[in-house]
Amino acid sequence: MRIDDDLPQGEDKAIAVEHMFDQIAPRYDLVNRLMTFRMDVGWRRRTVKALDLTPGSAVLDLACGTGDFCNDLLRYGLEPVGLDFSAGMLRAANTDAPLIRADALCLPVPTNHVDGITCGFALRNFTNLGEFFKETSRVLKPGGRIGLLDVAEPSNPLLRLGHSIYFGKIVPKIGALLSDQNAYKYLPKSVQYLPDSEDLLTQLRAVGFSDVDRILLSGGITQLFVGTLDD
Ligand SMILES: C[S@@+](CC[C@H](N)C(=O)[O-])C[C@H]1O[C@@H](n2cnc3c(N)ncnc32)[C@H](O)[C@@H]1O
Repeated sequence: MRIDDDLPQGEDKAIAVEHMFDQIAPRYDLVNRLMTFRMDVGWRRRTVKALDLTPGSAVLDLACGTGDFCNDLLRYGLEPVGLDFSAGMLRAANTDAPLIRADALCLPVPTNHVDGITCGFALRNFTNLGEFFKETSRVLKPGGRIGLLDVAEPSNPLLRLGHSIYFGKIVPKIGALLSDQNAYKYLPKSVQYLPDSEDLLTQLRAVGFSDVDRILLSGGITQLFVGTLDD
């Protein structure tokens, strides 16, 4: 897919994304729940279940935002640490899990250190997905599990049309009303950054994941990628 010229790349993108999340952090959870009709809660829980890790396992939640994934991981008896580069999002976080301010593309975590990795709705925000995938395979222990959530386009034409109207026209209006107009205009556009699913599965395999799978959620408006790091 061609990326619009007005969408930033590289360092400009990283600065814009960090600034945007700092701005929208205070109302991020409210807008999220409203615009997904609370389905985001179920998507994260589905991800934690798909990880299938034993209680007590150490899980790194990358781009943790306000800590929703961390809370679900805690609920399942796992030991999460959240990491995000937006100081605003970390300040707005509401979780008992420890949080670190850092870049998900350069993790301050030793090699072979964690049993699981989660990441929710951030793949399209990263400036270099290759670096991100390399870092995940470096810090995971062999046999470790990964679960990545992001938006998707439904394949059913009718659903796709409804979804594109909702995501492209209505979500920016909800965002403008309750939070920041520009940020929620960027949201539907940012989908252009996301490679197609085959490409993402290939990138995961290339850094050492096997049993990789893509699971469509809620009629295909969200996709979950799971995999196991080779021994
Ligand atoms: C759409 S929010 C998702 C937050 C949370 N994972 C959730 O499921 O609600 C995307 C998050 O990615 C973070 N982010 C984007 N690029 C990042 C990077 N390179 N390193 C760390 N965090 C990053 C943003 O600060 C933001 O909190």
